[in-house]
Amino acid sequence: MKFLITGGAGFIGSNYCHYVVDKYPEDKFVCLDALTYAGNYNNIKSLENKENFKFVHGDITDRDFIDKLFREEQFDVVINFAAESHVDNSIKNPGIFLTTNIIGTQVLMDASLKYNVKRYHQVSTDEVYGDLPLDRPDLLFTEDTPIHTSSPYSSSKAGADLLVGAYYRTFGLPVTISRCSNNYGPYQFPEKLIPVIFSKAMKDEHVPVYGTGENIRDWIHVHDHNVGVDLIVRNGKVGEVYNLGGHSERNNLTVVKTILKQLGKSEDLIEFVEDRKGHDLRYAIDSTKAEKELGWNRTYNFEDGIKETIDWYLNNQDWVEDILNGNYKNAYKD
Ligand code: NAD
Ligand code: DAU
Repeated sequence: MKFLITGGAGFIGSNYCHYVVDKYPEDKFVCLDALTYAGNYNNIKSLENKENFKFVHGDITDRDFIDKLFREEQFDVVINFAAESHVDNSIKNPGIFLTTNIIGTQVLMDASLKYNVKRYHQVSTDEVYGDLPLDRPDLLFTEDTPIHTSSPYSSSKAGADLLVGAYYRTFGLPVTISRCSNNYGPYQFPEKLIPVIFSKAMKDEHVPVYGTGENIRDWIHVHDHNVGVDLIVRNGKVGEVYNLGGHSERNNLTVVKTILKQLGKSEDLIEFVEDRKGHDLRYAIDSTKAEKELGWNRTYNFEDGIKETIDWYLNNQDWVEDILNGNYKNAYKD
């Protein structure tokens, strides 16, 4: 089978490429990425000589380019990881989120219909469900939780999800959607909480905690997310949504202190800063459906996963530094 993996030079997409290229030597994987500020060719450079892997530089919103790519490659499966993914950016500049996350999804689905793709998979997020209160630990997001978004980012992801549902019902496109909680692991761009804390603490700079640090996220290792996506794409039921969660709720302050402790840095580095506008309080995912229907489960617990992740950043400080000084932009030449 031939797969298109969009956003494959980003955090989760690149981890996905590494996972499947090794696991399925008989399949072919085309990784498409626009290499926006968040895309980093260094994340997938080590795959460039693999026979079942090919990188294509391009934009999912470019209709003519996408049509030509689909005509030439005749994909069996499309997995759409490509997105503008950072909530803070969406608060400063919502427009690009609508273009990439909604129009980009439509362009990919139009081509998938035209060229008879057998499965279109949309990588979505638990943020489409909005947030849960801090004082009701019994409440979890299920696939039936109504969509109720907070940020322009989550609204654009929800808009895309609705469109995916519409293409299934109206045009019969064979779709699936996964909604996952907060990922951590190798290759995460240093704008998200964990790599921000790592890179600042390593320079003994203040680490910014928004508001009181009480907000809770449900942390999952990126490998466990990607195993779930792979199971859904291969064995999931067409037309269905599957939640994937870490079963590891932690408040932000706990996460920050865990990282500082591993790095041997003082908690005095913590600086409480102005809260994020519309800041979601708590995310928590019920993944029972994926566990029961697909046999999916997590291999990492939070403590081991975060330790391994911080060790990865410690062993790959050049990777972080290359991003901070902008050199990563030279990793790919057309
Ligand atoms: P990321 O920002 O690290 O990577 C996104 C990738 O998409 C980048 O490589 C970027 O260059 C590429 N891209 C952006 N616009 C593009 C365009 N127009 N055409 C082609 N490529 C484009 O994001 P991530 O954290 O890896 O997230 C991947 C997906 O998973 C996103 O859809 C996100 O909404 C979803 N998700 C993320 C998390 C998380 O915790 N990071 C959790 C659940 C779901
Ligand atoms: O839940 C899934 C979502 O998780 C994905 O859909 C998004 O793409 C991904 O970015 C992530 O969104 P969050 O907003 O939860 O992640 P972020 O790392 O930006 O922030 C995590 C928490 O930490 C959040 O409560 C805000 C807080 N925070 C973040 C940063 C960057 C800080 O306190 N300080 C920071 O410097």
